Amino acid sequence: MKCKYLDHQICVRTTGEYRLCCISVEQQNKENVTTHNIEQWRNSKIHTEAREKFANNEWPDACAKCRIQEEQGQESQRQKPRQYGPGISHLDLRFGSNCNLKCTMCYPATSSSVNQDHKELLKRGLESPWGNEQFPNYDWYTDERGDWLASLPDLREVYLTGGEPMMVKGLHSFLKKLDSSVEIRFNTNGTIINPNVYEELKRFETVNMCFSIDGIGKVNDYIRWGSDWKSIEQNMFRWAEFVKYKSIGPTVQVMNILDGHNLEQWAKQHDFEIWPNMLYNPQYFNVKNAPDTIKSQAKYFPEWVSQDADEEQQKLFVKVIHTFDKLRNTKINNYIPEVAEAYGIN
Ligand SMILES: C[S@@+](CC[C@H](N)C(=O)[O-])C[C@H]1O[C@@H](n2cnc3c(N)ncnc32)[C@H](O)[C@@H]1O
Repeated sequence: MKCKYLDHQICVRTTGEYRLCCISVEQQNKENVTTHNIEQWRNSKIHTEAREKFANNEWPDACAKCRIQEEQGQESQRQKPRQYGPGISHLDLRFGSNCNLKCTMCYPATSSSVNQDHKELLKRGLESPWGNEQFPNYDWYTDERGDWLASLPDLREVYLTGGEPMMVKGLHSFLKKLDSSVEIRFNTNGTIINPNVYEELKRFETVNMCFSIDGIGKVNDYIRWGSDWKSIEQNMFRWAEFVKYKSIGPTVQVMNILDGHNLEQWAKQHDFEIWPNMLYNPQYFNVKNAPDTIKSQAKYFPEWVSQDADEEQQKLFVKVIHTFDKLRNTKINNYIPEVAEAYGIN
């Protein structure tokens, strides 16, 4: 067995921690871009043992997600038909947790703005959906690290996410270091167009942008708190003027499962692909735990929707929404009334 991610990709989390890949489930790795270079990471125990296991036709524990998918007869991440190698051809980079949005389902370690809300709740002595743990904001990009990442000789694709990748201070200077044949792939919230980055990206043969859009209009604005659908839409049209591949990547959850047809219609009308991203955690947002009134109207992802719901998670949903609405001085009823009604939120 082989895994192209292990052999040909470097994946770095918002914290700077190296990961076997973006879906691997190993415990926290001590190897971090701030302390280890790529060679040290690839020679580490966890990386070496994972490669050895594949060579012996065994699954590393950390690769459970791919193993389960393959055992169920589905195509796993490692089997996706994308050409990797030779050498380190692909980078998957989250330059830090700086983000301007407070997406309802996101985490303090992934968005500095969510972290701000988390800190505010704890300061006020209120229960936070993210528990009592304190999180720093992460921001590991430096020009020097950008240099050694960009100078990998076999580089063919750089995938940038975050945090919000468009907020990285060094983004423009990092892009300048890359050869124009390198494919640049973004997962972005679409709220920011930095003119320097916009112009720089025109130089690349292939720019691939996936916009995280979770609904049209108010559905998006409620879930992706801090964003404004109309201005994101305008930004997407501007990027579409030159990017080669454009798509939207909705994170599918209880609050937008009924908005799928609007997203589909919008994508068709404007010629964007759709790459759905299924939300697994937090469980109270997982579509399997939606109330029956939502499930009975849901037309997408029947294999998720048909799973038994945990009613405790529905109670938790109501509690968490109350917390957000109080903190943000909003009411879900004014944004996604059908979801408010399904949960009995007045
Ligand atoms: C964390 S964001 C970072 C990149 C960028 N800021 C953006 O919004 O695309 C990457 C993706 O993760 C998704 N996401 C947020 N919370 C999630 C969760 N609990 N489960 C699965 N995906 C989630 C976002 O909607 C987005 O599509």
